Amino acid sequence: MKDEIAAISDELREALDSVSSESGLGTLRVAYVGKNGRVTSLLKQLGGLPAEERKEAGRLVNGLKGEVERLLAERAVGLQSAALEAELQAEWVDVTLDPAQHRVGNLHPTTRIQYELEDVFVSMGFEVLDGPQVETEHFNFEALNIPANHPARDMQDTFYLEDGNLLRTHTSSIQVRGMQRLRPPFKIIGPGKCFRCERLDASHEATFHQMEGMMVDRDIKVAHLVYFMKTLLSHIFGREEEVRLRPGYFPFVEPGFELDIRCLICAGRGCPVCKYGGWVELLPCGMVHPNVLRAGDIDPSEYSGFAFGLGLDRLVQMRYGIEDIRHLHSADLRFLRQFSH
Ligand code: PHE
Repeated sequence: MKDEIAAISDELREALDSVSSESGLGTLRVAYVGKNGRVTSLLKQLGGLPAEERKEAGRLVNGLKGEVERLLAERAVGLQSAALEAELQAEWVDVTLDPAQHRVGNLHPTTRIQYELEDVFVSMGFEVLDGPQVETEHFNFEALNIPANHPARDMQDTFYLEDGNLLRTHTSSIQVRGMQRLRPPFKIIGPGKCFRCERLDASHEATFHQMEGMMVDRDIKVAHLVYFMKTLLSHIFGREEEVRLRPGYFPFVEPGFELDIRCLICAGRGCPVCKYGGWVELLPCGMVHPNVLRAGDIDPSEYSGFAFGLGLDRLVQMRYGIEDIRHLHSADLRFLRQFSH
């Protein structure tokens, strides 16, 4: 038995040297001190030994058992610290490096302009609302005075989903959601992504951003609308830009307008962005149609309001002089990094 004990101890030491994982160690543990392990079976044999041998053998086997357990435990600690060391090496960071060498990300220019506008409007008492990008026809069209089969639905090439819902074509659906939640007087904005099946060119993308605005109170007039629009534009461009109002048709406003801005890309001389007209359509707006107020459970004989739908991407284009709107969603880092300061 003595020889066997020495052999077991040697073999285990050898096996432990080559084990490199927790699971390998577990297998060894079972093989030596498990229910049918080698040390365990030696212990079981003790009972069959003659009494005079049993004491000495018991001392030796128990000594072996203690040694085996100590070796296993030591190796477990060794494996754990090796694993920790490997992890530390892999995740090693030199905190003394010049921070300028690290490239941190930056906000997308559209997000940046969205946040800035939110600040401007919140400072004027507007509340910021959100709405889903997948909308029902009710929120996107019907409650906005565009019934099914109305030709106005053709104004917006819509992505319909198989379940009958759609990708919202404008943020005007947030007007409807706002009226459900709030009672007049209220002032809200609703920024977000919109989707249309557009033919892509320098100023049209299938995914774009708008910021809806709506104010409802007693005696709201076009003058209020113009005031807020001018304030908004002077914040964005840091000076008064040349604008013009012309009639525009949207079923959810009456009267409806298009607010155009002098093209800042070509200073009005004519370029692909303004389609050589010198003006860029920036801000459709108007007085909320009575049917829309009614759909929102607001009495149009008591309250009136204005609404606008600001195209955020185009605003970004104008502010930074970006000649093609398709850059915005190109995910081209050379483009995006220009906005990192
Ligand atoms: N929802 C309209 C569009 O995207 C814009 C709009 C909003 C017009 C609010 C008037 C008032 O075409």
